[in-house]
Amino acid sequence: MSHFRTDLRQRAEEIIALYPRKRSAMLPLLHLAQEQDGYLSDEGIAEVALLTDTTPADVRGTASFYDMYHLEPVGKYVVGVCTNIACLLAGGEELLEHASTTLGCSVGSTSPDGLFTLEETECLADCNLAPCVQVNHRYVRSTTPAAFDEMVDDLRNGRLDHDVPSHGTLIRVRRNGGLRAERSEVATERAEAKAAREARVSKESS
Ligand code: FES
Repeated sequence: MSHFRTDLRQRAEEIIALYPRKRSAMLPLLHLAQEQDGYLSDEGIAEVALLTDTTPADVRGTASFYDMYHLEPVGKYVVGVCTNIACLLAGGEELLEHASTTLGCSVGSTSPDGLFTLEETECLADCNLAPCVQVNHRYVRSTTPAAFDEMVDDLRNGRLDHDVPSHGTLIRVRRNGGLRAERSEVATERAEAKAAREARVSKESS
């Protein structure tokens, strides 16, 4: 029996069909697993391995490379406060300290109610609105302690449900197109590129 609930299993199959090889669908499938469980559980990892014809060790090894996948349980909302240079100069560290007090947890841990996990992040590419805060990878633009507290209150009361998705949900519009070229055409191009690469290496080493 699939670990994915029915709708996610269906989406997983649609995603796999977009790629020439099943294992190429691993990253989007990991987002689905995280969307369902809130983090990458052993069962979710095993399901992705099964669907991509790989092993749980392959999947775990890939997932551990990316910050956006959580290999341990986290709160419903992962709050990231940037303390990189532009944000540092604009009060990022003070905001992070304030966030820790408001949420009742230290950096890297989860609030006692299990709702929030607090992270200190590197540059989130929103330096013009420093200090930058993201919740579940969405910019929330809460640059002052007062705005931060208001945002937390909104999250607790479901007023940001539309804007802040659950873990794993990165896009609003689902991709419905895949490879536009014929598979045979892609295979030919890959074979030609491989031959050219091998010829170059052989020329350089002779
Ligand atoms: S330095 Fe914080 S978003 Fe760039």
